[in-house]
Amino acid sequence: MKFSELPLDERLQRAIVDAGYTTPTPIQEKAIPPVLERKDLMGIAQTGTGKTAAFALPILQNLLQGGDSKGQKPIRVLVLLPTRELAIQVSDCFEKYQKYTRLTSACVFGGVSDLPQKRALSRGVDTLIATPGRLLDLVNQRVVSLKKLEYFVLDEADRMLDMGFIHDIKKVVAQLPQKRQNLFFSATMPPEITKLASTILRTDPVRVEVAPQSTPIERIRQELYRIDKRRKGALLKEMLLEHPEMKKVLVFSRTKHGADKIACVLEKAKITCAAIHGNKSQNRRQEALGNFKTEQIRVLVATDIAARGIDVDNVSHVFNYDLPDVPETFVHRIGRTARAGREGVAISFCAPDEEQDLRAIEKLTRVQIPEGDKAIFEKLPPPQKETPESEARNARWRTGKFGGRKARGSAENKPQKEKSQAKPQATQGKPQAAQKQNTAPTPKTHTGKRLGSRARRRLREEQARKQQQGA
Ligand SMILES: Nc1ncnc2c1ncn2[C@@H]1O[C@H](COP(=O)(O)OP(=O)(O)OP(=O)(O)O)[C@@H](O)[C@H]1O
Ligand SMILES: [Mg+2]
Repeated sequence: MKFSELPLDERLQRAIVDAGYTTPTPIQEKAIPPVLERKDLMGIAQTGTGKTAAFALPILQNLLQGGDSKGQKPIRVLVLLPTRELAIQVSDCFEKYQKYTRLTSACVFGGVSDLPQKRALSRGVDTLIATPGRLLDLVNQRVVSLKKLEYFVLDEADRMLDMGFIHDIKKVVAQLPQKRQNLFFSATMPPEITKLASTILRTDPVRVEVAPQSTPIERIRQELYRIDKRRKGALLKEMLLEHPEMKKVLVFSRTKHGADKIACVLEKAKITCAAIHGNKSQNRRQEALGNFKTEQIRVLVATDIAARGIDVDNVSHVFNYDLPDVPETFVHRIGRTARAGREGVAISFCAPDEEQDLRAIEKLTRVQIPEGDKAIFEKLPPPQKETPESEARNARWRTGKFGGRKARGSAENKPQKEKSQAKPQATQGKPQAAQKQNTAPTPKTHTGKRLGSRARRRLREEQARKQQQGA
């Protein structure tokens, strides 16, 4: 099938040609017709197979059929994403596909001033692409109204419906009209999340599953290295020095502090790199990602904020320096390579205490990861013994008192805006007084009542998770 055979407007067809697409991918072929028929849809397809266009193109087509008017207009499409970088990327895709029409879109996300975002919204947009925290901020400020919404899209739907985001999503859904089209997409969809999703989708959703959920792309060649935790840095460095064909490399670390530490090791070996995680400012995050895209740096070290959806051309290798404890995350991480028909390599390091994570990953993906060439271990220096000094240094790293600086992950260094986002409204405006006494303000409900212990625990869990994801 060719794109030209799909009932899409000539203006969209021209943009598709400009994007260099000729044939729809399987998910596009299967999802576009039911979306055009205004059905609810759950779309499951492997990473890098064009899910974004699978929802964006038919939505734009439907919007065009409703009239391509100029001037002030209500928001008719909402696309929610788990990270700021992904929101920017999907927003760029909408702009690319709608460039020959008068349809407009805006993108809102946290960590930056909301003024330019408000300005863009004041002109009226058809499509709003957002991360949930900033969207709710703007809804509460009455800058955004979702009362006329027609299309509700959750990309990375299983992530959006898990513990970290579900409360925000419920608040957003409460703002939407009952009659709307719901579209959920992801490469992974655990059964318990499918059940939850069915409470938001209408009664007759179409389920399009191109491959069983959590199937990694076959073109990813995988290798496993069982290695002691303390030798992982040396192994990564040795591999990068030995293999110049590892040109564009994404390294995943489980923690922000770990990502910084890996970047330090690589910098010392004169390997160009940058780290990206939730404690970096938004500008630094975008700068690091931009330099990686344009190949000004060879390695990007990231936490799982870069695991999902991010589309960088020609990532040659993905390293799992640490294995993720959520197996679905592994599928997304390695899916940053071998996108849009290309090949790629995923290399995973597994320390003895990660064997259980490895088993969960292999069970989910139905793939037994082959072991890599053990000859490389002979080139590594012998493992360093922990001395009292190195123990103390590691402890300082962990507590953030390294070199007299404050903990990078500590609450003090968290951007103020992000802190306030996760707090209930009633506590905003009072934190300074509370900081003076060095105690956190008591979280309260919007009516001013103190939260119960279960609600406080949930809030703490949610804050910790958001901090980890940098959402
Ligand atoms: N029909 C097509 N032909 C060629 N390239 C395409 C086509 N559709 C999309 N692409 C390109 O494929 C790449 C991956 O697309 P996209 O990011 O939408 O994948 P995805 O399925 O959403 O992946 P993920 O699960 O990682 O989010 C993009 O660079 C996109 O421009
Ligand atoms: Mg995607």
